[in-house]
Amino acid sequence: MDFTAVKYNEIIVRGNYSKILKAVAKTEQGSQEIIVKRVNNTARKTFLREIAALQYNANPGIIRLYGYDNKKKEMYLEDLTDQGISISRYIDHNGKLTPKEALPLLSSISKSLAYIHTRTTEKPAFIHYDISDNNVFILNVAETKIIDFGTSFEDGGYPAEHDTWCIGTPRYNAPEKITKNRNKETTAVDVYAFGILGYKMLVGIEPFTEMVGSLNRQICFDSPAPINSTHKPLDNILMDCLAKDPRQRPSMDNIYTQLEQYR
Ligand SMILES: Nc1ncnc2c1ncn2[C@@H]1O[C@H](COP(=O)(O)OP(=O)(O)O)[C@@H](O)[C@H]1O
Ligand SMILES: [Mg+2]
Repeated sequence: MDFTAVKYNEIIVRGNYSKILKAVAKTEQGSQEIIVKRVNNTARKTFLREIAALQYNANPGIIRLYGYDNKKKEMYLEDLTDQGISISRYIDHNGKLTPKEALPLLSSISKSLAYIHTRTTEKPAFIHYDISDNNVFILNVAETKIIDFGTSFEDGGYPAEHDTWCIGTPRYNAPEKITKNRNKETTAVDVYAFGILGYKMLVGIEPFTEMVGSLNRQICFDSPAPINSTHKPLDNILMDCLAKDPRQRPSMDNIYTQLEQYR
């Protein structure tokens, strides 16, 4: 989409790596509300990686990129503030979800993740690397969107910057991320984080919640307390995602197929 001008409004989130602003973009057809993600000067490579990931994975289940400005290090994104809410805020406002509410949402998220993980002639496989309750938005009862591809990368191309950058959301980090077992870090890190997300949706809180030092020990060594929702098969799928050994976790494609049977 060609923007003839962008008028910036208020900053809504100020992060370490970026600022999120509301804005209005003028196009030939008229004007449109958008979100501007403005990335810090030091994060040029991250900016380029995020753009590439959004372009390759363009899909209704991930945040839409309208365009970007390389010099200003800004990307122009679909605005979810009106129709959407992050899972984190949703649970803050409404508490945990019933299996009936969670199933179509988890199915939608697993479909998008299966797409991101798939390699085709058109696109490489990507690892999102920061699936969390803040980075998934609910649009309606059965529709979600994944945002924040700032940490994502092509499967097999572990970015050197990740050795120094913050690597994700502590409670959602898989054991192999914590132990920096780089050659074991595959798309299964997203499957693990998806399991934590589903767990939080059904229980109201993540399974491991201590402060960072002991949190990492819990993640590597403790078994999560059972979910005990009223939907045993759903509980089992999510618990399978939380296997400590990444090779024992199901693929996102397999999870999507299973979830579709139950909804
Ligand atoms: N397109 C969007 N629509 C609505 N809110 C957004 C959008 N993009 C980001 N946000 C909000 O800004 C926060 C930070 O954006 P994110 O892309 O996750 O950046 P960071 O890499 O700093 O985590 C998100 O958690 C979300 O609340
Ligand atoms: Mg984020």
